[in-house]
Amino acid sequence: MAKKTIKDVDLKDKKVLVRVDFNVPLKEGVITNDNRIVAALPTINYVIENGGKAILFSHLGRVKTEEDKAGKSLKPVAERLSELLGKPVTFVPETRGAALETAVNNMKDGDVLVFENTRFEDVDGKKESGNDAELGKYWASLGDVFVNDAFGTAHRAHASNVGIASTGIPTVAGFLMDKEIQFIGEAVESPKRPFVAILGGAKVSDKIGVIENLISKADKILIGGGMTYTFYKAQGHEIGNSLVEEDKVALAKELIEKAGDKLILPIDSVCSKEFSNDAETLITDGAAVPEGYMGLDIGPKSIELFTNELAGAKTVVWNGPMGVFEMSNFAKGTIGVCEAIANLNDATTIIGGGDSAAAAIQLGFADKFTHISTGGGASLELLEGKTLPGLAAINDK
Ligand code: 3PG
Repeated sequence: MAKKTIKDVDLKDKKVLVRVDFNVPLKEGVITNDNRIVAALPTINYVIENGGKAILFSHLGRVKTEEDKAGKSLKPVAERLSELLGKPVTFVPETRGAALETAVNNMKDGDVLVFENTRFEDVDGKKESGNDAELGKYWASLGDVFVNDAFGTAHRAHASNVGIASTGIPTVAGFLMDKEIQFIGEAVESPKRPFVAILGGAKVSDKIGVIENLISKADKILIGGGMTYTFYKAQGHEIGNSLVEEDKVALAKELIEKAGDKLILPIDSVCSKEFSNDAETLITDGAAVPEGYMGLDIGPKSIELFTNELAGAKTVVWNGPMGVFEMSNFAKGTIGVCEAIANLNDATTIIGGGDSAAAAIQLGFADKFTHISTGGGASLELLEGKTLPGLAAINDK
């Protein structure tokens, strides 16, 4: 999967279109986590240092109607970017038209411009998400070269990634895209062994593709989180009021049979009668969850089991928390796994984005991993072995 990168093109005096993933969480106009902006800095700085004009754009949230636009402007993102770069960033509150074209034409080498949320184009007929050919062509016409650094969006075929690339404009990967593909792609395709995958989160349905792909690739697959109870049900255990996907019980049974002793389930749970941090907790003695209780975290014996299974691992990929880590009473499983991974010697350790990345960061383990992905859906699809359209559209070396 050798793709051209930003290092393969001349940027001097060029208008460089850079698709970034600035889909960051915002609360009342304030960015609550700027990781994705920070992760795009190496590419942006490289464009500046090499005399290019950086024209940045991204989606932010999902926009279907005019009302949906409220609170989804990229203006606060452009402001934060300006602080991080320590230089002015021009923000154009348009996705097309004369104001945008004039602003682009007035740019000098080393300047940075951000234009408005690409999904504002979805209000009038899903032009961005529907990969409208005219829109892709229009955006491509604003630049000389296209750098796609939006790994988090690589599983989408939208006008602002695939559409622009399809016009034939030289299309290369930015540093973030390249790094993500190298870490996650190599972990799955040519891992140093033992290779242990840890999969958690609420639903089996979200992880079926990943489990199926990793059964033949990983040496061990450790399962935690809410999906544990669908597997328990498939094994015939009592699960009380725990989360279960009834329509996935048969599939869970199939996966257990297919994976054999590679698939390792928790052996105890931290339970409660209510989904609350204030309710009394109980630790099960074994898999069964008593009537009236729901399992909300893996228990201490499971943490020990998972720590032992991880010992000596040379590649670890983790996607999905072990419990309801947002509540302190149910965070110990996720913390335990973070600690076990942090203590590994000489291992490549990767967290898929989304909830597990948020957990590791919130629990203070961010710097203990080799790589924390900026992609939620994109990293999952890569772990599933799927071709990401945004990546496929980048020119081959
Ligand atoms: C993400 O946050 O996973 C990406 O930015 C993609 O966003 P989307 O799921 O709204 O396409």
